[in-house]
Amino acid sequence: MLNVDNINLHYGAAQALRGVSLTAEMGKITCVLGRNGVGKSSLLRAVTGQHAISAGTISFEGAALDGMAPYHRAKRGVGYVPQGREIFPLLSVQENLESGYAPLPRKERFIPDDIFSLFPVLQSMLGRRGGD
Ligand SMILES: Nc1ncnc2c1ncn2[C@@H]1O[C@H](COP(=O)(O)OP(=O)(O)OP(=O)(O)O)[C@@H](O)[C@H]1O
Ligand SMILES: [Mg+2]
Repeated sequence: MLNVDNINLHYGAAQALRGVSLTAEMGKITCVLGRNGVGKSSLLRAVTGQHAISAGTISFEGAALDGMAPYHRAKRGVGYVPQGREIFPLLSVQENLESGYAPLPRKERFIPDDIFSLFPVLQSMLGRRGGD
């Protein structure tokens, strides 16, 4: 279970999130809906630790994530698929896919076959640069 409790988030003096709470249960899909600029991406950046919150708490599977670096959150299973491309343009397609390996034990560091079932074109483009 992911628990976001009463968080605030600021960009400088501008407050983007005010008292936002959310629970997301394991095995279920939780959707956050809202008009443009309402703070959906900011909420996800707060969960992943990419942007610090200024009030409230966030916990995942009972453990507080507050103050934890994004890569430690990733090791606990908190991932984020960004809204835009946000790929590494100078790394190859393969290297971009492999960039998700860091939090995994060595024996799990392979690109799962279902990635290529979902997106067959990736197989033939593994050597291409992400930005191309
Ligand atoms: N890096 C930033 N610096 C300053 N203000 C920002 C920054 N990123 C977002 N904001 C502002 O914070 C508010 C929330 O933005 P956010 O991107 O979280 O909204 P969103 O719900 O994801 O929007 P969209 O539906 O367009 O994706 C907006 O007013 C936005 O202009
Ligand atoms: Mg967004």
